[in-house]
Amino acid sequence: MRFFISVTLCIAYEIFAQECKKDEHAIFGMMLRRHTFKKLKSSIAVECNRACNDDFRCHSFNYLITEKLCELNNRTKEARPENFVPNSERYYVRSNKKRGEFHRPKGLNTDSSWFHSTCEEIKASEDGKAKSGEYWIYSIITGKTALVSCDMEPEDIDECASGVHNCHSSASCTNTVGSFKCSCNQPHIGNGRSCIPLPSECQNYQSLTGSDRKITYGNQNTVCDRSIHGWYRFEGAAGTRMPTSCPPKQRCNTHASGWLNGAHPTVADGQVTRTVCFHWGSNCCNWSRSVNVINCSDYYVYYITGTPGCSLRYCSRD
Ligand SMILES: *[C@@H]1O[C@H](CO)[C@@H](O)[C@H](O)[C@H]1NC(C)=O
Ligand SMILES: *[C@@H]1O[C@H](CO)[C@@H](O)[C@H](O)[C@H]1NC(C)=O
Ligand SMILES: *[C@@H]1O[C@H](CO)[C@@H](O)[C@H](O)[C@H]1NC(C)=O
Repeated sequence: MRFFISVTLCIAYEIFAQECKKDEHAIFGMMLRRHTFKKLKSSIAVECNRACNDDFRCHSFNYLITEKLCELNNRTKEARPENFVPNSERYYVRSNKKRGEFHRPKGLNTDSSWFHSTCEEIKASEDGKAKSGEYWIYSIITGKTALVSCDMEPEDIDECASGVHNCHSSASCTNTVGSFKCSCNQPHIGNGRSCIPLPSECQNYQSLTGSDRKITYGNQNTVCDRSIHGWYRFEGAAGTRMPTSCPPKQRCNTHASGWLNGAHPTVADGQVTRTVCFHWGSNCCNWSRSVNVINCSDYYVYYITGTPGCSLRYCSRD
C-alpha cells in the first residue's frame, strides 16, 4: 500500500510539473472537505485537472489515491481554510485556472468591472446563492490571493421592460431595484394597477375653507348651510374631509353638527351615495341628508344639497 501510494504521488508530481504553472502543486495528506460537487474515476490525476479546468464551478480538487477518484471542489483552501483538513488518503490540488484572470485588464488591479466579473464568477460557482461579503481570489501579479468585496444581491429584473408587471393600460411602469411602480397617466387617477379617467367633478367644484367648519370649533355664530348647493371640497383651514364619526353638537359654528355616516370611497369606487347625519338632542342622526362623494385620489368632493333645516352644518376635519 505504501509503495503504491508513493508511486502514484510520483506520477502526480511529474504530471503537475509539466502541466501546471509554477505555483500549482499538489498538497499531500490534505483535502478540502464539504465542497465537492462532482466525483469522477480517473486512473491519473491529470484527468482530474482537465475536468476541473473544463468546469466553471471547479476551483480545486482532491484526489483519493486508493480509489483513483477525483473530487472536484467548488471552493479553494484559501476561500474555506476551515475545511482544509489532513487526510492521509488524499491530496489537494488548486485549479490552475485563476479566478478572474481572464477578465482582468492589464496593470489595473482595482478596476471595479474586473472585480464585478470576478464576483459574478463566484456567484455562479455558488448557484447564485452566494451571500454578500468578502471572497478570496487569485491575484496574477503576486501569484497570491487577494480579498474582494462582492455584492451578491440578486440581479435586478426590469419588470417594466420585460412586460412582467400588472400596471393598468393607462398607467406608467417604473422599474425599481427588486420591484416596480405603477402610476396612472394623467388625467387618470388610481393606484396604477387600476386607473379611471379623472371625473369632471374633481375639477369643477367650490371650496369650503373656513376654520369654523372644523369639529374642533365651538358655536359662536350659529351658521346654517341651508343654501349651499353643488360639488364642494373641504380645503385650507377647513381641513380635508367630513368626519365619519358623530361629533358633539354645538360644534363647527352651528347647532346640529353634520357628519358622514359611512366610509369614504376609494378611487375605484367612483361616485358613491352616502348619508350625512346631523347631531341634535341625544340623537347623532336627528336629521339626515344624502350626499354624493367622489375620491379624486388626493382629495374628496361632495355633492351637497342644502340642509333639512337650520341651524345645521356640514362639518370638517383635518
Ligand atoms: C458547492 O459544494 C457544496 C458541497 O457539495 C454544495 O453544497 C454546494 O451546493 C456546491 N455549489 C455548487 C454551485 O455546486
Ligand atoms: C382615495 O382612495 C385611495 C385608494 O383608492 C386612497 O389611497 C386615497 O388615500 C384616497 N384619497 C384620500 C384623499 O383619502
Ligand atoms: C330632532 O330634534 C327635534 C328638536 O329637538 C325634535 O323635536 C325631534 O324629535 C328630533 N327628531 C329625532 C328623530 O330625534
